[in-house]
Amino acid sequence: MSLYVILLSLHNIVRWAVLILGVLALIQTLQGSGAGRTITAGARRAVSSFMGSVHLQVLLGLLLFAYTGMQKIPAFADGRASFKWEHVGLGLLVAVFATLANGAARRGMTEAGRVRSAAIWTGLALLLSLLAMPWFRPLLRLFTAG
Ligand code: HEM
Repeated sequence: MSLYVILLSLHNIVRWAVLILGVLALIQTLQGSGAGRTITAGARRAVSSFMGSVHLQVLLGLLLFAYTGMQKIPAFADGRASFKWEHVGLGLLVAVFATLANGAARRGMTEAGRVRSAAIWTGLALLLSLLAMPWFRPLLRLFTAG
């Protein structure tokens, strides 16, 4: 099995962690956004787990990007010409937004303000993850090239 298939499979699998943890973080922060509610320890944990999964995904993406470049493997040859750059750009923005969500959950101005901005940044990060996703690729890749 090649390193390419290993990295591609890990990047494929971790995207489900990103999506599931993102939905959980959004639900938790939205529940806390009602009038006069405070951010719970559970919501804060959900937002930081989401950020952790996104950071891992970006790290795997960067390794894949470097490896495909070095091995001259055409990345996203099966997508439209601009897809590779859209994927990288949106993927990096997801990491920025998930990091802002985590910062907001910890250091907002007021309790209500911080849970609301954590919910907004989490929602935007999740939306961009859906847009960045190559849905034309296998939904689950278990260490096979095809
Ligand atoms: C939240 C962010 C991201 C998500 C959810 C995501 C998701 C995915 C998925 C599902 C695939 C297809 C895997 C497969 O074919 O089995 C993929 C491929 C890939 N991604 Fe990402 N990705 C993200 C960020 C990034 C970033 C930041 C980079 C680069 C810096 C990157 C580089 C790549 C590369 C090079 C491929 C392989 C293309 C190919 O082999 O043709 N990804 N990504």
